[in-house]
Amino acid sequence: MTEYQLIEADDTVLRDGTIKLHGPDGFEGMRRAGRLAAEILDEIAPMVQPGVSTAAIDDKVREMTLAGGAVPATMGYRGYAHSCCISINHVVCHGIPSEKTLKDGDIVNIDVTPLLDGWHGDSSRMYLVGDVPLKARRLVDVTYECLMIGIDKAKPGARLGDIGAAIQAYAEQNRYGVVREFCGHGVGRLFHDAPEVVHAGREGTGPELRPGMFFTIEPMINLGKPPVKMLADGWTAVTRDKSLSAQFEHSIGITEDGCEIFTLSPKGLHKPPYA
Ligand code: MF3
Ligand code: CO
Ligand code: CO
Repeated sequence: MTEYQLIEADDTVLRDGTIKLHGPDGFEGMRRAGRLAAEILDEIAPMVQPGVSTAAIDDKVREMTLAGGAVPATMGYRGYAHSCCISINHVVCHGIPSEKTLKDGDIVNIDVTPLLDGWHGDSSRMYLVGDVPLKARRLVDVTYECLMIGIDKAKPGARLGDIGAAIQAYAEQNRYGVVREFCGHGVGRLFHDAPEVVHAGREGTGPELRPGMFFTIEPMINLGKPPVKMLADGWTAVTRDKSLSAQFEHSIGITEDGCEIFTLSPKGLHKPPYA
């Protein structure tokens, strides 16, 4: 049995496993936070070049986040000390910015979460560094399609499992592996809230989607097999078989007749190439 909780924007933030149903104030808050996330992802696109360090990109993300009147929600989150996550090639997610530089042929995910006036805009995109082999570009394209196929299923009356089922079917048609260890999540005044949005599963299962539900969809798709391995730093997740991995993420809200994507690119930079 799923429980739902109707909340107003200024209600106490409860972490009790219920799925929150937000009103107009929530939509407005998420629209603003989501737009800032998308603007940051737009703005850093030209910076993603061979030779740039991931720390330099992280600095730019922090500057833009603060200039937008927000703070990076990742800073201080469970001890994480950076403004975004930057995951290169076989890194699945939560790559830590460092002095390491990008090189020609890399594929890179940049995941930002500005916290603006109490609302979390959580989004990530893939970027191509220089000349990227066709095999890797194809993985990036299919991963973007996985996200959008999942979003297509997000409407009132559907079940949460319909989203993962559609993503899994499309990824596996393309002979890719869907990561199971990390999920999308409820989002809003909390960074990570109920429900868990798994990117694989069975149609017709899970809670029914209702207007006012906010969550992310963020499929991680591997060129090889699904399993991941954690590195000793406690954050970096990599593919166990060292194959390439890609991810895109949007924060969305269920509306009366479908869903609203809060983190759409104002510049139309939905997927690479961005030039
Ligand atoms: N933005 C990530 C997500 O999509 C979470 C990053 S948490 C961090 O849920 F601590 F690793 F930054
Ligand atoms: Co997320
Ligand atoms: Co994210």
